[in-house]
Amino acid sequence: MAYSKESLKSTRVTGVAQKYLYIHTIGCQMNVHDSEQIAALLKEKGYQDTGDAGKADLIVINTCSIREKAAQKVYSRVGRFHEYKRRNPRLIICLTGCLAQQEGEKLLKRLPVLDMVIGTHNIHRLPELLETVEKTGSRITETAFRESVQSIRVRTDPRNGAVSAYVTIMQGCDNFCSFCVVPYLRGREESRPEQEILNEIALLADSGVREVTLLGQNVNSYGKRSPDGSDFATLLKKIGKIPGINRIRFTTSHPRDLSEQVVRCFKEVDKLCEHIHLPVQSGSDRILERMNRGYTSAQYREKVARLREVCSGISITSDVIVGFPGETDADFQATLALMDAVRFDNLFSFKYSEREGTAAVKLEGKVEEPLKIERLKVLQSLQEQHTLAGNKSREGRVEAVLVEGASKNSGCDVSGRTRTNRIVNFKGGAELIGKTVSVAITRAYLHSLRGELH
Ligand code: SAH
Ligand code: SF4
Ligand code: F3S
Repeated sequence: MAYSKESLKSTRVTGVAQKYLYIHTIGCQMNVHDSEQIAALLKEKGYQDTGDAGKADLIVINTCSIREKAAQKVYSRVGRFHEYKRRNPRLIICLTGCLAQQEGEKLLKRLPVLDMVIGTHNIHRLPELLETVEKTGSRITETAFRESVQSIRVRTDPRNGAVSAYVTIMQGCDNFCSFCVVPYLRGREESRPEQEILNEIALLADSGVREVTLLGQNVNSYGKRSPDGSDFATLLKKIGKIPGINRIRFTTSHPRDLSEQVVRCFKEVDKLCEHIHLPVQSGSDRILERMNRGYTSAQYREKVARLREVCSGISITSDVIVGFPGETDADFQATLALMDAVRFDNLFSFKYSEREGTAAVKLEGKVEEPLKIERLKVLQSLQEQHTLAGNKSREGRVEAVLVEGASKNSGCDVSGRTRTNRIVNFKGGAELIGKTVSVAITRAYLHSLRGELH
């Protein structure tokens, strides 16, 4: 899963007293989308996004707690906002997201600079609670779990010509992988009604969006508890018929729940891009069992083989954890062997981080930090070879690229993605943004491709 930090760009508000909002996001795409929803809710309250925290009347830090490092980032970030509060005593600082859900009230004690701590199920209450803080100056925590997460249906603005948008299709997770805090912080799985999702995507298409990324911790279990009896493959087929949408992506997919019907969608739904993020976590069956993942290394490879049979050029990316309790050299070698067998197009790799409240805390065989670091290095250097080789195999080809915006690297370049989710930079003007163009790939790097308009 890709991790990102972003502060949202400006939007215009009319008719209400204007105030400035600065959002800092740490964590996964779901958190990035939650931040977009927070911005949409607060826009109605007269808050305009600013990229300048020093100018803000309200700072929201949307947090993550997936690993210790993500949580530490939050504490250091909050520390930096002290100075702003000193300069502007009316500034309100609010913590939302997974760390807020996990720590609740304790955060107000630990961080006196905070005014509000709002958990993952209560984003919809933010405007109302903010009003209380503005009027009374009181400090507020709200971390109750709810039957339904109301904010998953908050519409976000496709900002100034954005061509790509996130759409939440389900939230929460019922899997309880032994290392993971998400089920405790996001609550039980909840699928959005199919019609609601289709309507939202149709509206996005009308406002110029060409690509949607469907979000959920385990999109494959979409519909399991939904009253309309839909499932993920059916949903993909229906989205595939929405005019204006050219590309569909989704994340994340649990390998155990990846059904044959969903695999076949890579052939049957033209708009579904040839990329799947399929986190494997380990190549060792013993470790997979201790992780409570519900599949073996061989079963994972069978799914990969089936995906490639149905869709030969499909790009497969994954997540791996090194140093899970009890991981021996042989287990680690099994992970490297799986990587050699599958040859992932990209891989996100992490050192195991113990999370309070998860089942893995009780497991024996803790792996020492230096060994984790060494394993991570070995694994990452193997992956770099695979990623670069995969990118090099694109040289000389002509790829369909959806142009997303100006390139980060150079002012006169634009940047977009191939259907296999590779970044391509090439010379071109702003008029190309939102269009799908043919680009001849001239040079491959580790993190991107270089090309020329064809
Ligand atoms: N729902 C997704 C994963 C969400 S968390 C899925 O099941 O695929 C994103 C990634 O963070 C996981 O795939 C895992 O590789 C990593 N991760 C989660 N908990 C972790 C922990 N305690 N230590 C290290 N990495 C972890
Ligand atoms: Fe965490 Fe596992 Fe759920 Fe993914 S599927 S969010 S790793 S518990
Ligand atoms: Fe982090 Fe919560 Fe996402 S813990 S990875 S922000 S679901």
